Amino acid sequence: MKKILITGGAGFIGSHVVRLFVNNYPDYQIFNLDKLTYAGNLFNLKDVENKPNYHFLKADIVDGEKMFELFAAHQFDGVIHLAAESHVDRSISNPMEFVMTNVIGTVNLLNAARHQWKDAMESKRFYHVSTDEVYGSLGETGYFYENTAYDPHSPYSASKASSDHFVRAYHDTFGLPVVLSNCSNNYGPNQFPEKLIPLFINNIRHNKPLPVYGKGENVRDWLYVVDHARAIDVIFHRGKTGQTYNIGGHNEWKNIDLIKVMCRVMDEKLGRTLGTSEQLITYVKDRAGHDLRYAIDSGKLQRELGWVPSLQFEEGIRLTIEWYLQNQQWLDEVTSGNYLKYYEQQYVNR
Ligand code: NAD
Ligand code: DAU
Repeated sequence: MKKILITGGAGFIGSHVVRLFVNNYPDYQIFNLDKLTYAGNLFNLKDVENKPNYHFLKADIVDGEKMFELFAAHQFDGVIHLAAESHVDRSISNPMEFVMTNVIGTVNLLNAARHQWKDAMESKRFYHVSTDEVYGSLGETGYFYENTAYDPHSPYSASKASSDHFVRAYHDTFGLPVVLSNCSNNYGPNQFPEKLIPLFINNIRHNKPLPVYGKGENVRDWLYVVDHARAIDVIFHRGKTGQTYNIGGHNEWKNIDLIKVMCRVMDEKLGRTLGTSEQLITYVKDRAGHDLRYAIDSGKLQRELGWVPSLQFEEGIRLTIEWYLQNQQWLDEVTSGNYLKYYEQQYVNR
């Protein structure tokens, strides 16, 4: 019986990873550790919350003592670490929160794992989930490879880069059995509507302006979130200790082109005249330090572990838009802040 700690499991990607592990590995005990910041939403896991192999731990990874206590109490065999402050714009207004959670929080987990596993390192695994933003920005051509030099530009990417370095340092210095991945932009159900795709779906729904940063010419490589969760499963189980794997969709879109596709699909789904939603596009001041282009080469993951994305973007974006339209209550709870009360109702008085 393996005990797996998943941090940040109430967030966007974490909730898909928790669901996949709870459903696919009934012989594992899955512990979802989350502080429930504004980005953590236990509604995301309603379908698995009563399963016997699912457990929720409300805790802050910045609290180092608490991490030691939890590792001692539950004797985790593996960690999949996703908890982070994840939104670039918030990192520009409040960098220190990103240093605390993304850097200090990660080092706290590394320390707890190192201490708890000191006599049995070989059978353990610490998986750190990171981002392609650590590699910086590409020009019009080229790709990020696993050995591309780090060149972060935002406080978010700088904090993730720092955490990646600490994870590798704990492997090289203390022999901690780590594995890492760096993934491109995710999209899909349950993403907090501060990120481009869910924000714009919600704004189109309410006929609100669509704030396009700069000229909308920045390029991102989009991957459906369930494909990221599948990659995490494969790397957690079969990735080589000490290695890094890039994960991406080979699916580059200029922001403005992606936004126009979303507007078209939304017009269709909402029964609006074609072209209605595009009129909401509003060009606004560019994001400070805005990276021009991200593009991932995930050839290593494909060659060594056989992972490829399962969904074409056209299908993924339709599924995503349909999900948000069919789950308007989820969007309304999130935008009104009601979801924050769910933990109290569901867990505190049990
Ligand atoms: P998210 O913001 O949706 O979720 C983050 C989760 O972490 C939330 O549930 C939040 O409550 C929790 N959390 C935050 N601070 C915490 C703390 N101090 N202690 C405990 N829990 C805390 O993020 P996401 O988009 O799901 O990203 C998850 C991970 O994947 C992050 O590490 C991020 O850097 C990485 N990543 C994200 C993307 C993307 O496109 N979203 C792409 C590549 C990598
Ligand atoms: O590349 C992986 C990263 O992708 C993850 O590590 C981050 O956690 C995740 O937030 C995401 O970062 P981005 O900055 O690329 O995502 P975001 O959705 O914030 O923005 C996508 C693009 O859209 C980017 O070029 C900025 C632009 N944008 C974004 C918002 C929110 C706009 O033009 N207008 C907006 O309102």
